[in-house]
Formats: sequence, structure tokens, C-alpha cells
Amino acid sequence: MQSFMFVTDLDNTLVGNDAALLELNQNLGQHRKKYETKIVYATGRSLFLYQQLKREKKLLDPDALIAAVGTEIYINGSQIPDTHWSEKISAGWDEELVLSVTGCFPELIPQSNSEQNHFKVSFQLNEADAARVIPQLKLQFRRQHLDIKILYSSGIDLDIIPVSSDKGQAMQFLRQKWGFIAEDTVACGDSGNDIALFAIGEEKGIIVGNARPELLEWHRDNPGKYCYLAKNTCAGGIIEGLKYFGLME
Ligand code: GLC
Ligand code: MG
Repeated sequence: MQSFMFVTDLDNTLVGNDAALLELNQNLGQHRKKYETKIVYATGRSLFLYQQLKREKKLLDPDALIAAVGTEIYINGSQIPDTHWSEKISAGWDEELVLSVTGCFPELIPQSNSEQNHFKVSFQLNEADAARVIPQLKLQFRRQHLDIKILYSSGIDLDIIPVSSDKGQAMQFLRQKWGFIAEDTVACGDSGNDIALFAIGEEKGIIVGNARPELLEWHRDNPGKYCYLAKNTCAGGIIEGLKYFGLME
């Protein structure tokens, strides 16, 4: 056993199977004590909604929280987003211009205020409209010379974020900060906004058994040797994957 960097999405990945979560927490907590393994949560939720989940579920305190689909990083329990990261992702981003483009699409229903930040503009978009609206949206952004990233998750959530931000790039920022090589890093997820965790490099990946079609489709089109497709759901799938990679007994 050795030290590694453990990165996991929360909803329907770490959280969703309470018995398995308890088992995984015990294991990871001990691993962190013994080997200084780092625990990172990478979620679409804002800090506000993360804290809400923390009141509902038994979660270990992470060494870092990647929040708001990678637009914010909170290190060591800090309540203030890491400024190095904010500076890094600000290049080429224009919040006003993004809002002026999205304002022309009545299909886009703004999410609650807590889920918006200066680097993340989020909507709900029906699955029935998505295939038509997303290409149109991309075209309009191109016309405005806006190089941004659009993420669509779980058949409903649409996030618009800076091109240099997502969960995967935030993971690499922390990995380099803490000096972990890609091979000693493992990321877990279940939906569209987690694709960035698996697509970015040679980090190991665990896709839980209850993964959404958009992630499974991506995995089918990108069969990499670094990704393990688990049979068990949520934390049960994570345990299965960690054992597969020899990171848990
Ligand atoms: C979380 C966030 C939401 C985001 C979604 C997908 O539910 O609260 O803002 O759109 O994740 O990334
Ligand atoms: Mg999820």
C-alpha cells in the first residue's frame, strides 16, 4: 500500500449507497492517517450546496474541495476559493458576454443564485431540447469569439465555464501542487461533468456501476486502459475499483 490522491464526485458516486460509503470512509480515513493519502471531492455543487450535503451525509473532511464543476478550489477546509486557481481560469472569460448570448435562448432556465458564480453560468435544459439548443449555443459563442466550455449532465444541467476550468484541470492543478504523479491518482464519477476527470491524462479512473448514459457513451468511444468500469453502484463501485487497482485491500 502506498500514498495516492483520491478524487471523487459526490452525488451518485461517493454518495448514494450509505452502507458502502461507511465502509469506504473507514478505509480511506485509515489510509490517509497511515500513508498521507489525499482525499479530494470534485463536485458540481457550490460550497453552499456542498455544506448542505455534509449535514445530511457522513462525509470525511476532504484535503481539498473542487466545487462548482472545477471553477472553485477550496484547500484544507478554507471557505475562500484558491486565488491562484481563480487567476488561472480567468483568461479569456467574459461573464457579461456569456449572459448576453444565453439571454437569447428561452429554453435555458437559470439555476438558483447559489449555483452561479463569476466563472460559472448554469441552467436547466430539457433533454428534448438539448440536441438542438447546444449546437446553436456553441455557434453563437463562436460568433462572439468566446472560447468557453459547455457541460451537459444528467439530462438536465447545463454549465458554461471558462475553457481552462473543469474537474479534470482542477484535479491536475492539485496533483501538481502536492507532487503526485498521474499514475498515483485515481478519479471516480458517474455523469457528464465527470468526463473531464477521465479524459485529461493518465490518471486512473473508476466509473461507478450506476453511471449515466452520457459518461458510458464517452467511455465506449474512448476505451482507455486507465478506466475501470465497476459493476457495483456508488461507493460500492469505488471500493471495487480501488481493489482492482491494488489501492485497497
Ligand atoms: C450540481 C450543481 C449544478 C450543476 C450540476 C452539474 O448539481 O449544483 O449547478 O449544473 O451539478 O454540473
Ligand atoms: Mg454525480
